Amino acid sequence: MHELGSPGPSAPGDSWWRSAAIYQLYVRSFADGNGDGIGDLPGVRTRLPYLAELGVDAIWFNPWYPSPMSDAGYDICDYRDIDPAFGTLADADALITEAHAHGIRIIIDIVPNHGSDQHPWFAEALAAAPGSAARDRFWFRPGRGPGGDLPPNDWQSIFGGPAWTRITEPDGSPGQWYLHLFAPEQPDFNWASAAVREEFEDVLRFWFDRGADGIRIDSAALLTKDSGLPDVAPDQPPGPAHPYTDRDDVHDIYRSWRVLSDQYPGRVLIGEIWIPDAARLARYVSPGELHTVFNFPYLSCPWDAARLRSVIDHTLALHALAGAPATWVLSNHDVDRIVSRYGRADTAFSLQQRPYFRGFPVDLELGTRRARAAALLTMALPGSVYVYQGEELGLWEVEDIPDELRQDPIWRRTGGADPGRDGSRVPLPWSGLEPPFGFSPAGAASDPWLPQPKEWRDLTVEAESGSADSMLELYRAALRFRRAEPALGDGPMSWLPSADGNSGVLTFDRAGSVCCVANLSDVPVALPAHAAVILASGPLTDGLLPPDTSVWLRTQPPD
Ligand code: NOJ
Ligand code: CA
Repeated sequence: MHELGSPGPSAPGDSWWRSAAIYQLYVRSFADGNGDGIGDLPGVRTRLPYLAELGVDAIWFNPWYPSPMSDAGYDICDYRDIDPAFGTLADADALITEAHAHGIRIIIDIVPNHGSDQHPWFAEALAAAPGSAARDRFWFRPGRGPGGDLPPNDWQSIFGGPAWTRITEPDGSPGQWYLHLFAPEQPDFNWASAAVREEFEDVLRFWFDRGADGIRIDSAALLTKDSGLPDVAPDQPPGPAHPYTDRDDVHDIYRSWRVLSDQYPGRVLIGEIWIPDAARLARYVSPGELHTVFNFPYLSCPWDAARLRSVIDHTLALHALAGAPATWVLSNHDVDRIVSRYGRADTAFSLQQRPYFRGFPVDLELGTRRARAAALLTMALPGSVYVYQGEELGLWEVEDIPDELRQDPIWRRTGGADPGRDGSRVPLPWSGLEPPFGFSPAGAASDPWLPQPKEWRDLTVEAESGSADSMLELYRAALRFRRAEPALGDGPMSWLPSADGNSGVLTFDRAGSVCCVANLSDVPVALPAHAAVILASGPLTDGLLPPDTSVWLRTQPPD
């Protein structure tokens, strides 16, 4: 049964997050309240009724803090305030209160691996001497080679180029280098420093005290590094074998965060960890650590029944060992939108291969059909589920953003080889027949920060509302049913034999009362015995389930 009790502050022992449907809200692109072309918190406040009607239990906000926006807010200057483009702390307080009144919990994004180069600590470090306490909060090191002209080691930035940038010392001489696993504007914090650890625990308390119901921990596997900073082969991508990824001592941090969060009933710690190895991923949800982690093995999986079944089985087995609920996620602000992915000849996804996927033609009709089927498959699985804003509208990856408008540092740092992530971050279409589609108010001074495709006139909330075949109505119906249905969310699941022994069909039972069938094969298949059809992602033909279609069946009414 869902344990959605009264929203914040939650009761002790409240584990709402085990079954929750969590909406990922990318503030910059959700709703613009003041007409400057950038989404903001007043805009979100006006749209809370939309999210309540959609049927989500929580919202995860991408970073909303003051930031120079070198990486869309993942470069933070002040972890205890709101960026003026998004609003004020008072707006955040009001938003938290209003969301709670709608029965919606709030999860905020904490970025502990790195700050902004405009963070006061970094300014202090630049002004201080090598070896000072101010520099020790980051990774400053002398360079190698004659005059220290070469970086301290061969690590590459995840966004392309070297992971080190040289500074000029206060006396004007060429100085030390600092580590940044992402852009140079995002210096890595040194988690061996007690000051860093204390600061972040204080930040956690700050937001929990303001009513935040949970945190999403950015780049959670990267925080601790081998202080010897050993070289790696430069062509080795970040991965489990890399010295800056997934070290044993990172788990100490999360154990102490768990002790802290347990002092606040019902709060959840969610790790963002891009590790393909499900066993290593599951270590983060060991008892006394994080509550959940994003399931990127599931997100990255191609639209293939055997592969999906294997990821689902691994996920459930490893989470069961840890006593943690699984999570299921199809897309987010870092990956290609799902209808585009599923409309390509290769339906896999990996961050490293974005340039490769770029060249593929997209069959949007096929991709949309599959995305609908995937939505029902995903929402029937045991655990919690994420919906990335716009997924519920069937938005596609905007692949033709003019180069001069692209904002993602990945685009620049790879010299355009990698298109980056802007295509999944285009402002939402709400209403009307032309841009800004209600994203900004009438008479807005500025265009949306990224241009919206004119074809999105058919994908606005207004156009899709009440249209029986729309993605939005499918999501609404599925989320509502899932929330009310004791057999869905957290709980047992078992595979059932598929019709005609077709290995391209995934059939599973939830608690003996709901059955989900997803047909990933290329032939229509018969349905198992059932009392009623609850919901289908597309029309059945002569009682058969067509290819790329899923259905939820009532097998037995609940007790
Ligand atoms: C993961 C975030 O999801 C991504 O958007 C960001 O660029 C990196 N972490 C760096 O913070
Ligand atoms: Ca705005």
